[in-house]
Amino acid sequence: MRFSDRANSIRPTGVRRMFDMAGDDAVQFGLGEPDFQPPEVAIKAFTRAMEDGRNKYTTTAGLPPLRKKIAESWHHLLPEIDESNVCMTMSGTNALLDIFLAIVNPDDEVLLPEPYFPLYPTDVVICGGKPINYPCKFENGFVPEIADLEERLSDRTVAVLYNFPSNPTGGNVTPKERDELIDFARKNDLWIITDEVYDRIVYDSEHVSFIGAGYDKVIMINSFSKTFAMTGWRIGYVLSENKEAMGHITKMQYYVTACSNDAMQYAVLEAMEKASDYPDQMCQEFKARRDLICERLNSMPGVTCHVPTGAFYVFPKVEVLGMNSEEIAMALLEGGVLCSPGSAFGDAGEGHLRFAYTIGRDSISRGMDRVEKVLAELRGD
Ligand SMILES: Cc1ncc(COP(=O)(O)O)c(C=O)c1O
Repeated sequence: MRFSDRANSIRPTGVRRMFDMAGDDAVQFGLGEPDFQPPEVAIKAFTRAMEDGRNKYTTTAGLPPLRKKIAESWHHLLPEIDESNVCMTMSGTNALLDIFLAIVNPDDEVLLPEPYFPLYPTDVVICGGKPINYPCKFENGFVPEIADLEERLSDRTVAVLYNFPSNPTGGNVTPKERDELIDFARKNDLWIITDEVYDRIVYDSEHVSFIGAGYDKVIMINSFSKTFAMTGWRIGYVLSENKEAMGHITKMQYYVTACSNDAMQYAVLEAMEKASDYPDQMCQEFKARRDLICERLNSMPGVTCHVPTGAFYVFPKVEVLGMNSEEIAMALLEGGVLCSPGSAFGDAGEGHLRFAYTIGRDSISRGMDRVEKVLAELRGD
């Protein structure tokens, strides 16, 4: 049977493959989704909206009061934006595709972080473009170096994607690093696509955004998946001060899903209005888990891990002689722990494992006991 070269060339992500193999009793550090319910007020508002007949197509860009509320939530950085700077989408995943569709021509190159969220390179390929990976190295706190970015530029480079806080590394930028990364894009007239879906899961300082920092070719993807623990609801948005970009992206959104979900947009508005501190409450718990898992991992021989300042992942270096990350992850799975091999996030992830600390502290402790035991056996310690 004949299928497109595109379909034939795309493989399922390594994260999903491991997830499908895990037994019921495995301690799950696999998928990146909060183990919390969405705020109660949002669930009630969702039901109410459906009962009130909010079950129709909306305008392509989405519910104006929700878009206005989102724009206002960024007024501390961009005071002049309004609802015309926001387009609702059916998730960050949907937002990413809209953006690439709007800016990538066949053979255009897009600079992407590596290790990466696995959708980035595939999305660029779907749009006919060429993903060019730049390294985010462990020894540099997973923040890219400008020289590495410059080395990968060509006359076909149209955009650079930044993702802070990062999945899978938990890496984050300081304002100074952010400014240097913006300068690089400005100097080379590149679009910045900034994936800030973890902007509300930041621990020891304020979130450092790429919007409102003096460059107008910045397009942000965001999502309520992590912010309000709504991964299964599928709702997110694109925001940019650049109205021309928003016009094209909104047009793409029409052809991808026509619009977002009607009733759900009322529910998210309710969450933003009545449960605005909910993400901070979740964040407090994530911080306690981060401290626990980092302490446990760093106490194991052959394991070194950064203490991340955002998102809910750790990406330790794990050394077992003669074994790659997939083999170590498989051995851990046999020992009752699901995590992701670093290589699932690109070649630069080799030598690492990703643990999502989206389970309770007791489960983290139980899982870490198993990791310690399996690694000691593998290393012959
Ligand atoms: C870095 C990053 N960007 C985007 C997404 C997509 O989120 P969603 O499609 O659930 O909104 C995720 C989800 O894990 C992510 O980790």
